[in-house]
Amino acid sequence: MSNWVTAVFSPTGGTSKIAAAIAGSRMGSRIDLCAPVAPHPLPAGTPLLAVLPVYGGRLPAIAVKRLREIQGSGNPAIAVVVYGNRAYDDALLELKDVLTACGCTVVAAAAFIAEHSIARSIATGRPHAEDLAKCVEFGAAAAAKLATSMETVSVPGNPEYRPLPQMPVTPHVTEACGGCGMCVRKCPTGAIPATDPRKTDAAKCILCMRCIALCPRKARILPPPVLAGFTARLNAIASEPRQPELYL
Ligand SMILES: Cc1cc2nc3c(=O)[nH]c(=O)nc-3n(C[C@H](O)[C@H](O)[C@H](O)COP(=O)(O)O)c2cc1C
Repeated sequence: MSNWVTAVFSPTGGTSKIAAAIAGSRMGSRIDLCAPVAPHPLPAGTPLLAVLPVYGGRLPAIAVKRLREIQGSGNPAIAVVVYGNRAYDDALLELKDVLTACGCTVVAAAAFIAEHSIARSIATGRPHAEDLAKCVEFGAAAAAKLATSMETVSVPGNPEYRPLPQMPVTPHVTEACGGCGMCVRKCPTGAIPATDPRKTDAAKCILCMRCIALCPRKARILPPPVLAGFTARLNAIASEPRQPELYL
């Protein structure tokens, strides 16, 4: 079986860790969904591993748009969503549906947990060692299954997906900004204009937190009252540690 093509959208790195642990030495070429993707036909028979984070119980729309550039011809696929310990709602079903529409057959699926990229006090430090061991176990089980079977899996989710989330705010920029432009170059949606990195295009920003995580001067922040309110709401519903769920 040829190496897995791995497609990942990981603005702040949690999803990438899960993808790397699942693929292990099976990792072949990597499609970075944080950047534009050209039409990408898959070689016949090559498995596709797609790993995306959950935003508001859905997949980030821009990641879905880029994922749709991948063209399968009955290739086996492994669908994985990564969420910040609240819930993954309809995201895994949405991923299965998108991969199926790309011409793939989803033979394995899973939901894993990573630190919440907005409220860092939720699921702090995840994926931890046990999560990563579970990823390795899932990768091996998926590889064993697709060596012998193309039977598709059922995954939870409402076929009438939740509405896409509306972002209430964009990151603010403090006086510490030196205008280096790293946020401009790394923003997955092109929401920060090169002409003025202190601005953010609210129509494009998906609040993925990448600019906040990457800024060398910590000059991009969420307004503290917004972050405090969001964290308080999550503390009430997402503090009990969730466990990985595997569908094989
Ligand atoms: C805009 C946004 C919405 C999110 N929505 C959810 C959610 O609905 N449920 C959940 O459990 N986690 C949610 N999270 C947390 C992310 O799914 C989680 O932190 C993920 O690991 C982020 O991936 P990354 O580290 O690769 O960027 C959300 C994060 C962001 C930025």
